[in-house]
Amino acid sequence: MAATATMGMPLANRLGCKPNATSPSTRTLFGIQVTMSSSRWSRAVGSSAVMAAADVAVRRWEEKQQEEEWRSYLAPEKLEVLTQMEPWVEEHVLPLLKPVEAAWQPSDLLPDPAALGAEGFHVACLKLQEQAAAVPDLLLVCLVANMVTEEALPTYQSSLNRVEAVGDLTGADGTAWARWIRGWSAEENRHGDVLNRYMYLSGRFDMREVERTVHRLIRSGMAVDPPCSPYHAFVYTAFQERATAVAHGNTARLVGARGHGDAVLARVCGTVAADEKRHEAAYTRIVSKLFEADPDAGVRALAYMLRRGIAMPTSPISDGRHDDFYACVVSLAEQAGTYTVSDYCSIVEHLIREWRVEELAGGLSGEGRRARDYVCELPQKIRRMKEKAHDRAAKAQKKSISIPINWIFDRHVSVMLP
Ligand SMILES: [Fe+2]
Ligand SMILES: [Fe+2]
Repeated sequence: MAATATMGMPLANRLGCKPNATSPSTRTLFGIQVTMSSSRWSRAVGSSAVMAAADVAVRRWEEKQQEEEWRSYLAPEKLEVLTQMEPWVEEHVLPLLKPVEAAWQPSDLLPDPAALGAEGFHVACLKLQEQAAAVPDLLLVCLVANMVTEEALPTYQSSLNRVEAVGDLTGADGTAWARWIRGWSAEENRHGDVLNRYMYLSGRFDMREVERTVHRLIRSGMAVDPPCSPYHAFVYTAFQERATAVAHGNTARLVGARGHGDAVLARVCGTVAADEKRHEAAYTRIVSKLFEADPDAGVRALAYMLRRGIAMPTSPISDGRHDDFYACVVSLAEQAGTYTVSDYCSIVEHLIREWRVEELAGGLSGEGRRARDYVCELPQKIRRMKEKAHDRAAKAQKKSISIPINWIFDRHVSVMLP
């Protein structure tokens, strides 16, 4: 995972597409039984003080419901499904890792003094810097965002190890799940390395500032919601892996020969994107299997995650001086085309097809059916929100602002903030 830079926050959320996490239902508030959504309830109540109190009560009620929802995934019979999947993981997931001997390494993609000798290395670095000089600042900033996301890998590996029934409890467990997590982490580790090394050699980045961003990001950590349910964790990671594949792939295309002409960087990003696709295949396959075993639990977990928006793991990213720098990074990725709302929407559509969500019928509870319908309607909802946001921005005649980015020696980039 580790993904994108791009990342984006719940881009859909940034568009205000945050769902209404609850369905209309009967609640008892202040001793009154009501059947309606929280917003209708608030409107119905009237006075602002009472409305505020009602909102707090509704929010607490919703939070309790949500916690009960994800905690139900930690029931022994649910976790047993994962344990029973061990032989299947051995046969169908572990083979998606490349043997170390066949895997690419950063040294294969960038000038290597051991292979080129001092003179050859110097010449290759000059050539690399010449090509890198053509990449526009906007893409450089998006590249840093992608790179720091990859560099925060310790956060992602430790998150997966906290997931019930699959985590690597000793750090060297022999289970298929634990071996997958370690093998996946080892492959991911090369992503940050190769991007970091390209950036260092290119001479176009203030590496100390970039390194400080990585330092802050790993220190800040990432709170995963929910924290340890395998169903939710795998839905999140499957989405993330595809999102990163899209982001690195878009970056490769934009900086490549047909874009701005840095063939080395295009190859680096393309190679990382191909890894992400292989990882995406693994996590998507795992979630398909979970859907097969328990479609109701599968679709409810998917809806749970999408209702919150799939926040990229870099949401706490900071350059050390701008508030909500993440919003800025998300907007820049949208402007550059490295990861956009349309990409987010396409990923949702892809996963709906992949997990055959529309076809789910048998074995679904009432909540499961609501979850299925919510998920299937989401892409259209995101598109509508995007259009509305676009219209609002046009009406308000919003102008972009120019901000200095320390990753690129305080050169300014223009950004249109939401
Ligand atoms: Fe990844
Ligand atoms: Fe990665």
